[in-house]
Formats: sequence, C-alpha cells, structure tokens
Amino acid sequence: MSHRPSMTLPFDGIALGCDYNPEQWPRSVWPEDIALMQEAGVGFVTLGVFSWAKLAPTPDTWDFGWFDEIVGLLHEGGIAIDMATATAAPPPWLTAAHPEILTVDAAGHTLWPGSRQSWCPSSPVFRTYALELVRTMAQRYGDHPAVRLWHVSNELGCHNGRCWCDVSAAAFRVWLSDRYGDIEKLNDAWGTAFWSQHYTSFEEVLPPRITPAVPNPTHELDFARFSSDELLDYHRAERDVLRDVSPDVPITTNFMVSSHQSEQDYFAWAPDMDVVSQDHYLDHRLPHIHAEQAFTDDLTRGVAGGEPWLLMESATSAVNWQPVNLAKRPGELLLDSLQHVARGADGVAFFQWRASRAGGEKFHSALVPHAGRDSVKFREVVELGAALKKIGDVAGSRVRADVAVLWDWNAWWACDLGSHPSGELHYIDAVHRWHSAVTDLGATADVVHPESDLSGYKLVVVPTLYLVSDAVAPALQAVADRGGHVLVTYFSGIVDEADHIRLGGYPGAFRELLGVRSEEFAPLAPGAGVTLDDGSHADLWTELLTTTDASVVASYADGPLPGTPAITRNGTAWYVATRLDEQATAALAERIATEAGVTRAGSPGVEVVRRGEYLFVLNRTNADVAVPATGTELLSGTSCNGTVTVVAGAAAVVQEGT
Ligand code: GAL
Repeated sequence: MSHRPSMTLPFDGIALGCDYNPEQWPRSVWPEDIALMQEAGVGFVTLGVFSWAKLAPTPDTWDFGWFDEIVGLLHEGGIAIDMATATAAPPPWLTAAHPEILTVDAAGHTLWPGSRQSWCPSSPVFRTYALELVRTMAQRYGDHPAVRLWHVSNELGCHNGRCWCDVSAAAFRVWLSDRYGDIEKLNDAWGTAFWSQHYTSFEEVLPPRITPAVPNPTHELDFARFSSDELLDYHRAERDVLRDVSPDVPITTNFMVSSHQSEQDYFAWAPDMDVVSQDHYLDHRLPHIHAEQAFTDDLTRGVAGGEPWLLMESATSAVNWQPVNLAKRPGELLLDSLQHVARGADGVAFFQWRASRAGGEKFHSALVPHAGRDSVKFREVVELGAALKKIGDVAGSRVRADVAVLWDWNAWWACDLGSHPSGELHYIDAVHRWHSAVTDLGATADVVHPESDLSGYKLVVVPTLYLVSDAVAPALQAVADRGGHVLVTYFSGIVDEADHIRLGGYPGAFRELLGVRSEEFAPLAPGAGVTLDDGSHADLWTELLTTTDASVVASYADGPLPGTPAITRNGTAWYVATRLDEQATAALAERIATEAGVTRAGSPGVEVVRRGEYLFVLNRTNADVAVPATGTELLSGTSCNGTVTVVAGAAAVVQEGT
C-alpha cells in the first residue's frame, strides 16, 4: 500500500483545537471567545465548516466582511486556523434552484433539504457551485498567515456517502466502464449467469436500488467501491483548486474511521492527504467504549502509514445523536484525550467551541458549555490545554507495535452483505473482539491493510477477513516461515475481490497456510452456544473442519459437530473456527502472544502505550498503580526512578531516560 509522504502537522506541539462557528453568535460574543480560547490554550480552530449560507447570502452576492473580521480577531489572538472550504452544506437558495443536486435513497426517495450535506457526490451542478466557493475562499485566505491548513468540506460522506439518483447511475456506469472496459468482464465479475442477469451494455446497469429479491452481491460491492471513489474524486476536485491558488498550505479532510461508518475506504484516501485527520466520538451503544476508541486510533494510525495524525473532532462530554447521550465524568476528558495522543494523535480537537443555543446540536457538549466559563467543563478544558502544552515534545514520535491486526474496508463491505451463512456475523465485531483481546493483554497493535509490510510484527491477527486478494496468503506464509505467529479466525479467505468463492474447501485462500480444510459451515442459532473440550465457550459459528497438516488445539465437546476441531495450529499459523467468548479469546490471545514474544505492559484497566521515548499510562481503575518507568513524568514535572505511580483515574506521560 502506498501512503502519503511523511509530514509533521502544521500546528505547534500537541495542539488543542475545536470547530468554531461564530456565525451562530452575535459579534459581541467574539472578543470573549478569543479571550477564553487563549485562557484554554486553544492553538487552532476549524472555521467556516457550515458558513456557506452566510458567505453567499444570495446566488449573486458574497459577504466576507464578518468572516474577515473573525479571521483577523483569531490571528491577533494568536490562534491558527484550519480553514474549511465551507462547502459541506449548500444553502437553501442552491437546493431550491437546483433540486437535482439532492441525494436519492435506494428506494428512490429524495432526501430533502432542511438539515445538512444535501448534495449528491456525483452532481456536476453541485460541484460547479462548490468549486466556485472553494476558489473564492482560497483567493481570499490562501496566503493569510493564520491559515495553516485547508479543511476540504467536512466528513465527506457523512449523510451523503451513497446516492442512487440518475446522475449517480450515470457516474456509476462510467466508473464500471473504466474498471472493466468490456461488458463481458463485468458479466464475469458479477457472475451474471446467475438468475438471468447478463448485461449487453453498460447502459443497462443501474445502481443497486431496492430489488424484489437478493441483489447481486458483486454489484453491491462495486457500488460501495464506486461510492467511496466518487467522494475521493470530489475531494481531489476541491484539493486541486486549493493547490492551484494556495500551494503552500497543506490540505486535509476529516475522516470518519469508526464502527458505525463503513462507506469510505480510507486506505485508498490517505495518499491524497497532506495530513490525515480523523473525528472520533465515544460510542456508548458498544459494550467496550474505550476498546473501540483504541481500535479506531490504531486503525487511523494504520491509515496514516504509522505517521502522526490529527484528531479533528471529538466531544468534551455528551453528543446529541445516540439513543442516550452519556456525559463524561470528571477526569475522563483528559484520559480520553491522552488515549488518542498515546496512539498517535499530534493534536486533540473538539466539536465545538461554544455549545449552540439553537439547532439540532444544541445539547451536544462543547468547550464552553451553556453554563459558560464558570463551569466544571471549562475548567477541565483549561486543564487539558495545560496538559497538552506540557507534552508538546511528543509530537512527531511514533508508536511501536509488535502486533498487526489486518483490516480492509472491502472485506467489511463484502462480509456484511446479505444471504450469508449467518446474518449475526458482523465483520466489525469480529475485529473488535480480537483487537481488544490483544490490547487488554497490554500489547500494542497496528491495524493495517492486508497488503501492508508485515515484516516487523511478531504476531499478525487476521479476524474474519472474508475477502482477500491473492497476495495476502503468501505474505502471511512469509510471516509464519520466519517464525512469526499468524492467527486467522472463521470466515476468512473465503472469496476473491469479485466476491467469488475460492473453491476446494474453506478457508479458501488460507487452507495451505493453516493446514486445514473445511467442507461446510454450521453456524449456530442466535443464543445457542457450544463448549470446547478445553472447557471454553463459543457461539455464532462452527464448521466441518479437518486437519491436513495442522494439529488440533481444541475440539467441540458438543454442538452440531462434536469431536470436530475448533482451534488448530500449523506450526505458528493458528486457526480459530468459531467465535470464542471474551474469556476464551483472551486466554488464547495470551497463549499466542507469549509464544510469539510480544511485548506487554499494563494491567486490566491500566493502559500503557509507548510512543517513541514517551510512555503513556492511563489508569481507568479505582486504585493507584505503579508502573515500571524511569525518566521525567511530564504532567507533574517530577522524576521517576524505576516506577511511576499513577493515582486512580489519572494519567502519566513519562519521557524515559531523562
Ligand atoms: C460530526 C460533524 C460535526 C458535528 C459532530 C457532532 O459528524 O462533523 O459537524 O455534527 O459530528 O457529534
């Protein structure tokens, strides 16, 4: 995989930042905003994300006076600007004049204006208006000394990641024709001999709108690929204008690497970024919220090719968009922020500066809450700003990991399509379970693309990698051949990139590596479990597995296939053919990590991550802990010789050897 060239972030140290939406407030509030930003140590703000309607109040007029004023105030206040191109949400005059830019869902319903991101990624009309705004912004602010970064649109694909309108249909046909060249190649790839789906021309192809029965899975998979590419193409269009007018300012767009947003293949996007930036919100719908944060951080670092990245958005406390929006308890803001930094973030920013008075996000937390400056939250923000200043030298250092967890958006899209052996199997859950088992052991994992360089890892974990290219099995074989450990779990290696079964027995691509062969899947009914002969428990999945070269580590004691192997090993290549419960997953991860000689630190609830010469310790337990370390603890400025003591609910950042 190619990655963007290495680069440092355009802000100083580990910057504190936030989205700033001054248009929501009277001018009289702005000077206080700047003063409070200075008090909190805000290093940069993202400006203009949703300003289009105020910058272009009518189709024929611009109004930059107010924006110039706020840019000037920020600059005078010493606050850098991540300048948004302001194209995320078109104003009502544009959607009223051009309703053809609106997105349409798979059922053919138009998604009407009245919220945000009301635009189709393939719309040339939208693009024309948006690029005019981008050019105007770039000409006006491209050489302003406060502007350090360009921020293309906002979370490209948030709400409009896929569109099924006729304009998108035409663009999809062009994309398919570029990919396949010849319609018969598309017919082969999509397996259209099935159900009389043979196409005679690209013109007959539609986006995968709602169908009477199961749609063609490769059609769906290609539409997912097209949709990701289409927004990347849109990013490039804005980027090209910015580069042309404002060549010295780096460019980013904020990613949404997350457990509930699957539509962008960020491995494909990252090489186009000068800075990889990422938004993360704790997801309280999940059982292990901080494990999920660790996972997305490790994946964001993987997307950035191991380089530092920028946390562009997060929340100081509750969001507004989950079923119940849980607030952070005192101390959690600092720990959560440092968790991102420990895992590679060189800046910590938030949505948003001041909590809105009106609109759909008025109950979303902010740096300045509705209660104002005199609040626990603002005092915590000030403490956070001070803490980030103290660890500024961490910027630029790299996280060290012995373990790789393989991840692929293409595999996610394909694995979660319908008509599979079990609708209960979700790729993200499988990856989370193994990533958190590894991190709970105290190991650090990079989450990387399956075709990454795996040469430095002691253990490579391959959870439920349903779709793989031909290149992956030989790369894993090379890891095993040099004595590294490889752990593959159920429903991996099943199909090629066209979602065609790899014949001859499962797990297709990995049969030889693992020394096993499986003839039939036997998934378990929801709620049903199975016991292994080592006493461990599993659910979801079993399969009719035989060993060819592997030895059996554990077999099923009951369930549909008693006596059949459930866990095998072929030297250092392990196969887990079922979903072990968390306890059994942890036990197996521990066994393999120990054999592989994986470096471990920390204990349950105490996260220890090494970034360059810096050791981060996050103590989320109720007890004080002592962790081996020698050097200077930067948050307190004290020395530690042999151990650092971290009180309950607190954090330490030790610069070792100082
Ligand atoms: C992000 C978005 C922000 C804000 C935030 C709320 O998706 O970029 O503008 O809406 O969510 O959590």
